[in-house]
Amino acid sequence: MQKVRPNDATEIGVALLGWYDAHARSMPWRTGPADLMRGLRPDPYRVWLSEVMLQQTTVAAVTGYFNRFTTRWPTVADLASAKDEEVMAEWAGLGYYARARNLLKCARAVVADHRGAFPAEPEMLLRLPGIGSYTAAAVASIAFNRPATVVDGNVERVIARLYAVETPLPNAKPALTVLATALTPRVRPGDHAQAMMDLGATICTPKNPGCGMCPLMAYCAAHSQGTAASFPRRREKPEKPTRQGLAYVALREDGALLLERRPDRGLLGGMLGFPGSDWAVFAPDPAPPVSGEWHPLAATVRHTFTHFHLSLAVLVAQVDKGANPERGQFMPMGAFRPSDLPTVMRKVLDVASKEFGLIERNDPQA
Ligand code: ADE
Repeated sequence: MQKVRPNDATEIGVALLGWYDAHARSMPWRTGPADLMRGLRPDPYRVWLSEVMLQQTTVAAVTGYFNRFTTRWPTVADLASAKDEEVMAEWAGLGYYARARNLLKCARAVVADHRGAFPAEPEMLLRLPGIGSYTAAAVASIAFNRPATVVDGNVERVIARLYAVETPLPNAKPALTVLATALTPRVRPGDHAQAMMDLGATICTPKNPGCGMCPLMAYCAAHSQGTAASFPRRREKPEKPTRQGLAYVALREDGALLLERRPDRGLLGGMLGFPGSDWAVFAPDPAPPVSGEWHPLAATVRHTFTHFHLSLAVLVAQVDKGANPERGQFMPMGAFRPSDLPTVMRKVLDVASKEFGLIERNDPQA
């Protein structure tokens, strides 16, 4: 593995921060240069919330969610006292629902154990629920100016190219972390971290990197070999299996839909959804959740999760007022918004709505 020479580290840090000062992306959780000049640091609650939301997701996808969360719950104490279902509904569509459950646990721990103020040190942050090494380093450096090193996918790519690291990911992660740590400056470590992430997102992109515009071009080993786009090396991923399942959509004559809250543990834990089968390579069909005339729809719903593709058959039935479900509860039209559902269940609702000829529901986020 290449070593980072101290002079290079300083020069790289200076070039990167100079570029960041001119090109930082504006984001609702960032403080601008004028705020920093007045000594205002970013709010740790907003930094933490944005970093949890940004894991596995893009800035564009997160911004609306972040604004809705902070309008509804402006402080960590407000979030800590929210009801679980409200937070899960507001998170719906962002995916990786264990993060939302941990988000609440963490907010409650900050209030109960830290009097509502996030601790500044990475070791203390790491003890909070749902905070791993990435989030601890991001909050410590961005909100508290601690010299912690943030390593996400963008940073891995920048470093792998800068030092032409041949070891494939994920095995290369420890080596990339060592190199990234050697580059982290004592001054403005939070801006350095965000500059690395912005560089990875806008210039040092996975495909067609814009090396001609890169402030680190002169230092980049992969660029000097003319092979930047081929880094980081990756171990071949096994193909994702396809699992099958079915979902039952019952529409009561007054417009109520039969929904069921999923168990807290497991995939989509704690989220609302339509009753149905387990999702497996071969899943047996369970009995319908309520008696009625069930019709299979021609359209199937397809959705991809981290470890598998899902193909869901959808069955629909219109049932009368006295229907007595064995699973789930009928929810009146006004009692939930389609945006409260995780994306796969929204797709089920979409195909079923076409069948039922439902008019657009009252949904400000749809
Ligand atoms: N991705 C995750 N966190 C980020 C941040 N603070 N700035 C830019 N991109 C990010």
